[in-house]
This record gives sequence, C-alpha cells and structure tokens, in this order.
Amino acid sequence: MAGRPAEVQNIPMTLQTEKLGGHMAVAVSGIDLARLDSPDAQANLRRLLNDNLVLCVRGQKLAPPAFRDAMARFGTPMRRLQLAATSECDEVNIISSEDRDVLGDGKKLVNGASWHTDDSFMREPCSLTMLYGVIVPPIGGDTQFVNMYAAYEALSPEMKMRIDGLKVIHKYQSSRQTNRVSKRPEGEMKAMPEATHPLVRTHPETGRKALYLNANRMEQIVGMDRAESDRLLDELIAHAIKPEFQYRHKWRQGDVVIWDNRCTMHKANADYAEGERRLMHRVIVAGTEPV
Ligand code: OGA
Ligand code: MN
Repeated sequence: MAGRPAEVQNIPMTLQTEKLGGHMAVAVSGIDLARLDSPDAQANLRRLLNDNLVLCVRGQKLAPPAFRDAMARFGTPMRRLQLAATSECDEVNIISSEDRDVLGDGKKLVNGASWHTDDSFMREPCSLTMLYGVIVPPIGGDTQFVNMYAAYEALSPEMKMRIDGLKVIHKYQSSRQTNRVSKRPEGEMKAMPEATHPLVRTHPETGRKALYLNANRMEQIVGMDRAESDRLLDELIAHAIKPEFQYRHKWRQGDVVIWDNRCTMHKANADYAEGERRLMHRVIVAGTEPV
C-alpha cells in the first residue's frame, strides 16, 4: 500500500495524501501550515493523525514563531528545559547533530536514541510531538516508529489479562535506561518528576487501548518484585518493537512530522556520515494524565 495516493475530501479543500507505512503514517502535500486557516482543514489533519498515528506534512518553510503558531492549533505548546530552544521562540526546541551533554561529560548526545515515548516521566506527558526537518542528511538519520495499538492488540488474551490494571513507575534517569540522557543542574535533577502510569492506556480521542512503554524511562512495575518486573517489561518491549509494528521515516528537508505519543513509540538514528548535519526544530503540545 505504500506510495498509493489517496484523497481525503473536505469542504472547502482537498488534501493530497499518501500512505507511508502499511499500518501507520500518512503524508500530506500541497498545504502551507502557516496559512491553514480553515477549521475544516485543521479537523481533517487531526482526523488523519488519529487514524494514522504519524502525520507528515511535506515541503514546509517555517520560521520558529510560525512553526509554534501552526502547532498551537493542535494543542498548547509547552517549554522543555532539557533541550536548547531557538533564540526566536522559547517553545521551539532544537534537536541537532551538534548536541552535546554540556553539563555532563561534554560528549555528543543523541536525544531519543532508544525506543521511547516523549515525556513519560511527567505526570501529564505531552500528547503530540512535532519535528520539523530544517537540515536533514542525505542518507541516514531516519526516525523509527511503532504502532502501540497494534502491539497491544497482538498480545495473547492471557498477556492482556496479566497486564490489565498494572502500573509502571517512569523516571527521567531510570536505572533501566538504554541511552544517555542529558545531565541537568543539580536542583533540577533532584526535583525531576517521576510518574506512575498504566501499562495499557486508553487514548482519550480514539477510545482505543495501546501499550504504554518507554524503554528509556520505565523503572519498575508497581507491586512486582524487580526481577519479575524486568522480565515482563523486557518481554513487552521486545514484542512492541517487532518489525511488523514499525514504520521508518526517511526525512526530506521541509517535512513536519507530527506523532501521537499516546499510541506510538519512536527512536532516533544517528547513523549518518560524520560531518553531515542534521537540524530539527521541535514543538510538543500538552497532554493529560494517562488513564
Ligand atoms: C524527539 C525525538 C527523534 C529524532 O524529538 O522527541 O525523539 O529522530 N526525535 O530526532
Ligand atoms: Mn522523542
């Protein structure tokens, strides 16, 4: 199905869409997010996102304030201190091949290098993340996604029963972490939030159930001994990241990719050639406590 063009009718405009992955991800072209004033068009983008989990809008050219304003139609943009922000706009963060752990060892840091969902260490994690490819390397630097509705639905009935109602502690610096996260000032590290979230969450808009995992931030299942918790979390992660649940996004300059953290995980790849630059602008919008 990849590459098959499809049309979504709406009044007064028609969105040109292209399915990117078989079971998730869609691209829209021919629109300018900075000039998308029609509520119908916005509602269609929201529907495309809810149906496809990952929405790519091609060919954008957005200065940081315009990017923030366009994303504000999807929710309330939030600031995140853990990432550098653009000088023009506090709510637009930077993800770059130049990122270094400036307060830690000063070495290169690849944000999001292992499977995760954004912000799960927060009580109210962001709902959506928007990443805008300002400079993308010609080869490599893809972002991988997994469909966590599909991963949940494919579990055995026994496993669904076993995990029903379980809760997991998520931390900024988890002892299970699989990639380095940037060191923060001491006061901020001490006050870094920790949150307890359901292992299976229900999406507030679609009503569908999804596995809610974060390989990099989960600490332990509440009320389960450590070894058993580790085994179960490892098993669920290994299941969720199987190739059949994945979509791999190959970036084009000007792509704005919007994903729903409530029903996906994602992962960055720093596999592009030494010396190639990758510069992304990033906005997240507020979410609610997972239930
Ligand atoms: C993020 C993230 C992945 C990438 O912005 O939250 O994980 O490929 N980015 O840069
Ligand atoms: Mn991320």
